[in-house]
Amino acid sequence: MHFSTALAAILSGASLASAHFSVIYPWWRGDSFKTQWTYPCGGVNQSISNNNRTLWPLDGGAIVFHGSHPWAQTYVNMGLGNNVTSLKVPLVPPFNQTGKGTFCFPHVHIPDEVKPNITEGGNATLQVIQLSTTGGALYNCMDITFSSKAKNPESNVCFNSTGVGAANLDYPDVVPEPKTTTTAGADTLKSSMGAMAAVVAAGMAVLFA
Ligand SMILES: *[C@@H]1O[C@H](CO)[C@@H](O)[C@H](O)[C@H]1NC(C)=O
Ligand SMILES: *[C@@H]1O[C@H](CO)[C@@H](O)[C@H](O)[C@H]1NC(C)=O
Ligand SMILES: *[C@@H]1O[C@H](CO)[C@@H](O)[C@H](O)[C@H]1NC(C)=O
Ligand SMILES: *[C@@H]1O[C@H](CO)[C@@H](O)[C@H](O)[C@H]1NC(C)=O
Ligand SMILES: *[C@@H]1O[C@H](CO)[C@@H](O)[C@H](O)[C@H]1NC(C)=O
Ligand SMILES: *[C@@H]1O[C@H](CO)[C@@H](O)[C@H](O)[C@H]1NC(C)=O
Ligand SMILES: *[C@@H]1O[C@H](CO)[C@@H](O)[C@H](O)[C@H]1NC(C)=O
Repeated sequence: MHFSTALAAILSGASLASAHFSVIYPWWRGDSFKTQWTYPCGGVNQSISNNNRTLWPLDGGAIVFHGSHPWAQTYVNMGLGNNVTSLKVPLVPPFNQTGKGTFCFPHVHIPDEVKPNITEGGNATLQVIQLSTTGGALYNCMDITFSSKAKNPESNVCFNSTGVGAANLDYPDVVPEPKTTTTAGADTLKSSMGAMAAVVAAGMAVLFA
């Protein structure tokens, strides 16, 4: 098998192995289950016919999603505008979302430095990213319109399932040294093996990181 084909197989296998997550509030842009690993919005583009904006309070509001991993490093970002492709405003620090089920932040605040940019009727896109334990990244986006008429979701929509919450992100301080090979051989062979190992390592990193 051609090496890039093998790598593609590894990568698609990794994608299929990842469980999915869905966004419940604000209404997600669309069903992303088949393409959720696509940056930045899980493979769901904004189109004229797919422009389902949820009214969201001017000072921020609730975000509800349904996680399907035992835990996932999670990001919530925002991009301002009508047809956003760059979501550069973090709304919460990266956190460890624990447990499978519904997770709700009742009120995610707009950062102070972005508040002057928010206007009644202005549009934005919110993005939730979940990294699985093996390093797969899953994306979902929600299109919103800032509005003083926005209503927060009821408590039967915004809740944390039993066993669902957040924990500290806790990575070990020491990164283990990768194993090195000591096989002797011609320098050219060694260097081509080294290059190949790097490609394999890259594939493995995607799969096992
Ligand atoms: C979304 O848009 C990108 C960039 O224009 C395009 O490459 C991709 O095929 C589109 N995806 C879908 C599902 O339409
Ligand atoms: C957003 O931009 C894409 C690509 O530029 C375009 O195809 C799409 O129609 C736009 N969506 C809206 C709602 O304007
Ligand atoms: C648009 O959002 C509403 C909820 O606000 C939902 O009931 C409806 O199914 C959504 N439409 C589409 C096309 O996703
Ligand atoms: C907010 O507005 C300022 C001034 O127009 C602009 O420079 C900045 O990029 C905007 N920020 C965002 C997140 O759109
Ligand atoms: C926000 O999006 C809606 C729906 O696409 C559009 O009608 C409205 O003009 C947009 N608002 C602004 C300020 O561009
Ligand atoms: C869900 O858990 C998170 C993390 O502990 C917390 O910030 C949030 O307020 C909880 N949601 C509800 C509805 O209690
Ligand atoms: C996230 O929390 C879970 C449950 O407490 C824990 O097992 C896991 O190691 C945490 N992940 C990180 C990266 O801290």
